[in-house]
Amino acid sequence: MHIDIFTLFPSMFTGPLTESILKRARETGKLSLALHDIRSWSVDKHHVVDDTPYGGGGGMIMKPEPIVAAIEDIIPRGTDIPVILLSPQGRVFTQDIAYRLSQNERLALVCGHYEGVDERAIDLVITDEISIGDYVLTGGELAAMIIVDAVVRLLPGVLGAPDAHRYDSHATGLLEGPHYTRPPMFRGQPAPDVLLSGHEAKIEKWRRQESLRRTWQRRPDLLLAAELSKDDKAFLFTLAQEEIERG
Ligand code: ADE
Repeated sequence: MHIDIFTLFPSMFTGPLTESILKRARETGKLSLALHDIRSWSVDKHHVVDDTPYGGGGGMIMKPEPIVAAIEDIIPRGTDIPVILLSPQGRVFTQDIAYRLSQNERLALVCGHYEGVDERAIDLVITDEISIGDYVLTGGELAAMIIVDAVVRLLPGVLGAPDAHRYDSHATGLLEGPHYTRPPMFRGQPAPDVLLSGHEAKIEKWRRQESLRRTWQRRPDLLLAAELSKDDKAFLFTLAQEEIERG
């Protein structure tokens, strides 16, 4: 996958994109990344990229010319490459959106800054707006890094095993249950016997039930949209009964 990132602060990306899994994805050619400094497309002699809002009000607005020129220069016209503006006005990012984005061979992420981006630039060159949550950041850079991370780990071969993200929290519509590793006893607390039993079917059942339990306790809203079997529903019913009995 190739990702073009348009930003006023390219140096913000050096740490996160040059470490760990993203670093390996780049080294093995599964990911190529190009950072484009929007300021380079400002024709103004002082490289001004923002201006005061028409109609007054606080803050500064990103001028349309540099953004549009940058994207038109880098992204071939007439293609279906998603050009995504990170902004608090976008649709809220989810695992499902990450999956869909991971199906593209190429993506463009555009980081907004200041109070916002002139709407005419959005109309001309942006195909989608994404927010990473209902809070306001100082700019789209951290949001873009989150999207790159969530999308790239889904690319084939980026995480070791081909199905390594099959049980991810949210991939199944549920949260993942707890995980354990050696030692079998830690500060008087044993790891669950079933996980050491080697009995695959029992382990699978335990994991499913713990995933349901955790989702019920922490994010019951997710259960409404999750695909649940008869066994899942029966287990949730016992959880609900236990809760009622506890008062
Ligand atoms: N820019 C500022 N706030 C943002 C958010 N919540 N998501 C994406 N981009 C942003």
